[in-house]
Amino acid sequence: MKDYVFSINGKFVDEGDAKVSVLDHGFLFGDSIYEVVRTVNGKLFAADRHLKRLHKSAQALDMPLQRDDDWFIKHWRAMHKRRGGGESYLRIIVTRGVGPLSLDYSKCDKQNVIGIAKPLNVWPDEDYAHGCKVVLAHVRRNPKQATDPAIKSGNYLNNVLALKEAREHQGAEAVMLNVEGHVTEATTSNIFMVKDGVVKTPARKEGLLEGVTRGFIIEVCRQLGIRCEETIFTGDDLLNADEVFITGTTRDVMPVGHIGRHKIKRTPGSITIRIANAYHEVLHDPKNHQ
Ligand SMILES: Cc1ncc(COP(=O)(O)O)c(C=O)c1O
Repeated sequence: MKDYVFSINGKFVDEGDAKVSVLDHGFLFGDSIYEVVRTVNGKLFAADRHLKRLHKSAQALDMPLQRDDDWFIKHWRAMHKRRGGGESYLRIIVTRGVGPLSLDYSKCDKQNVIGIAKPLNVWPDEDYAHGCKVVLAHVRRNPKQATDPAIKSGNYLNNVLALKEAREHQGAEAVMLNVEGHVTEATTSNIFMVKDGVVKTPARKEGLLEGVTRGFIIEVCRQLGIRCEETIFTGDDLLNADEVFITGTTRDVMPVGHIGRHKIKRTPGSITIRIANAYHEVLHDPKNHQ
C-alpha cells in the first residue's frame, strides 16, 4: 500500500517528477483551485458535490474546467486504486497553467491538473471523546468583496497564519472572524454552535467556504427535526454556546471542548452527538458513494 500518490495531468509520477513549471500561475499567484474527496469503504464520498463546488470555484475565477466531470471521477478513483488500500484523501488541484510572468492570464491556455493522494487523516480519539481545542484567531477571513472565501482556491495564506496562532496555543483549529467581527469558519472546517436547542452556523454572506459537510449537516438537522439557522454570531456568542462543533471532509463532526482557555459548557453535547451519529449514516449511505 502506498502512502502518497502523485499525478500530473492524469499521468501517475514519482514525487520527484511531480513538477509544474515555475511559470505556472498557480505557483506564481495562487491562481488555482482545488477539491478534496475522501473515500468511504473505498468508494468516493459525495464526489458530485465536490465537483459542483469545483465548477463554482472555476466559474468565479473565469477558468472553466478543461476536463469533464467523468474525467475527474475516473481520476479520483484511479488515485485511490493506485494507493492500493485503506481509505484515501484525494486532492485535485487545477491551476491556471503556464503563461508569461504577468498577472494577465489571457495567454495561459492549458490548465494543469495535479493529483495528490494520501491516507485519510486520522484525528486524535481524544478530540472526539472530549472535544478539541480551538482558538479565536487575530487574522481575519478576507471579505467576500475581496477574493471570495467561497472559492476553494490555492491561496490560503490567511488560513495558514490563523492556524499558526492555533498551534502556538496547542489548538487543533483556529476560528476566523470577518472584518465585522462575526464568526465565519475555521481554517479548514466550518463551525456550528448550539444554543437553547437551536443549531447555528454562519450565513454564507459572512464570507466562508460552503463546506460539503456543512451542507450535509444542515440537511441532517432538518431530518432530525432540529432547528438549524444560517445566521450571524460573534466570538462572544460562541463562548456562551451550549455546544460547539466543527465539520469537514476529513474531520466529519468534531466537538469543540475549549476556545482558548474557555471551556464550552457541554462537550460533546447531546445535540452534537445526535448530529454526528446521523452524519455517520450519511457517510455510509451507498447513495452518496460514487
Ligand atoms: C476554509 C475551509 N472551510 C471549510 C472546509 C470544510 O469543507 P468540506 O466540508 O467540504 O471539507 C474546508 C475544507 O478544506 C476549508 O478549507
